[in-house]
Amino acid sequence: MDITLLVQDAASFQTPLLAVFAVDIATDEAAEPHPVLLTTSDALTDAASRVLATGEFKASLGETLLLHAPAGIRAERLLVVGLGKAKSLTPAQARKGAGTALRAVKPRGIRELALAFPEDRALSDESLENLPCQATMRAIAEGAELADPDFDIYKSDRKDKAVRALSILARSSERSTRAEMEDGLREGMIIARAQNFTRSLVNEPGNVLTPSELARRTASMCSEIGLRCEVHSTEKLEELQMGAFLAVAQGSEQPPALITMTYEPTEPPAATAPVLGLVGKGITFDTGGISIKPADGMEKMKYDMAGAAAMIGAMRAIAELKPAVKVIAVICSAENMPDGKAYKPGDVVTSMSGTTIEIINTDAEGRLVLADGLHYAKTLGCTHLIDAATLTGACVVALGILNAGLFSNSDSEAGRFQDAMRRAGEQFWRLPCTDDYREQIKSKIADIMNTGGTRWGGAISAAMFLREFVGDTPWIHLDIAGCAWDDDAKSWIAKGPTGIAVRSIVEWATSAV
Ligand code: BES
Ligand code: ZN
Ligand code: ZN
Repeated sequence: MDITLLVQDAASFQTPLLAVFAVDIATDEAAEPHPVLLTTSDALTDAASRVLATGEFKASLGETLLLHAPAGIRAERLLVVGLGKAKSLTPAQARKGAGTALRAVKPRGIRELALAFPEDRALSDESLENLPCQATMRAIAEGAELADPDFDIYKSDRKDKAVRALSILARSSERSTRAEMEDGLREGMIIARAQNFTRSLVNEPGNVLTPSELARRTASMCSEIGLRCEVHSTEKLEELQMGAFLAVAQGSEQPPALITMTYEPTEPPAATAPVLGLVGKGITFDTGGISIKPADGMEKMKYDMAGAAAMIGAMRAIAELKPAVKVIAVICSAENMPDGKAYKPGDVVTSMSGTTIEIINTDAEGRLVLADGLHYAKTLGCTHLIDAATLTGACVVALGILNAGLFSNSDSEAGRFQDAMRRAGEQFWRLPCTDDYREQIKSKIADIMNTGGTRWGGAISAAMFLREFVGDTPWIHLDIAGCAWDDDAKSWIAKGPTGIAVRSIVEWATSAV
């Protein structure tokens, strides 16, 4: 999709469909909704005034209203898109609103549309501060790009309904300069296209996306974008003595893949500058291994590589946004299978760091591949670590599907991530990961065991296990098991792979220096 910014009056723009945002400005909770359009154009306001006066349209988030042949403006159709309460308006609502406009247009076979950039007439000065120009433009571009794909590539009768062009119509003013709007648009397109790349990887079934295929697609993206990429397999894991990662991989016919990507800033940073390490769990299918999972729902375990895919997408965006910080990604990819050669409960394996691990449950495989990945990232010189993984069902039990889990050994790093995640419009909730939980992973016969001695607090036991391998290095762990796949479509986005964590990680990395 081409997205262009036009500094132009929306009412006089010729287009098959013009979308405009509306908010509810009723301040009293009990009062009837009072929708107003976010535009300073009288012609646009007049075109919608009669239908808005009926009270049928409440401007709630994701609600739409379509008018054909609207009077007094040149567009063939006017689509009013609700963003919810004016009081709580932030770029996050604009992201969802832009997505809703796009997804309302797609089934109608309309291939081109225009969107009026939100203008502030209806709002108090206070709420305006929550809708800064560049961040809002970025969010609109992201919302539109993210709304475009439908994950139906395996349907023989699929029809391509992709939208070809979106024109964003804006006026430049003191509060919103053209340069800021252009920057926001560019950033939004880069970030959302990277997130869509992540989503397309997560969507692939396990028979198509094996660890080697994940490596091929990553390497091909890297050569396109100009990132250094190295792909290794069993031999290198043996050389590095990655006993934990190897144990998981040994039950599968498919060889594992250890993928590294390196982004170097144009200006070489000082020797003391931070080096960020992004580590992803890339289990291309998780049967549970010898501790096999029940058949019901097992097909979902093709998305057990969503953490890896998030890091791959984040690297793609980082390479294009070019921050002044070095970033290294380490992807640990394997298939977790039961087999004559598979690892077993009771086995003791030695990780790359030398820590010995008693295997209690072969379904707790993600933490094993990450243990070696995190340690390896440290040996590559990373001073700050972040990992993403569909790690535990327990995290889904704790937080549901609206917030992913956030764990850290550093309050200041967790705070920096939380700031980034808010700007990115994603939701993570911090859970504890403090020394007193260490009891849960002590083993009788090795240094630690791979599941908690108790079934309570399983997401925390998993985080405590990972903490053993990061030491004092500031570290963030994201458990995205509940948020990586959405079974229900939203008005602004298709169902299926969500690409969770890409935007927050990119924001965290690009605001690091
Ligand atoms: N891949 C799963 C976690 C998962 C669950 C991802 C639901 C997405 C949705 C992970 O490898 C796993 O099986 N974890 C076990 C750990 C247990 C054996 C300690 C779990 O959560 O049950
Ligand atoms: Zn598992
Ligand atoms: Zn898993």
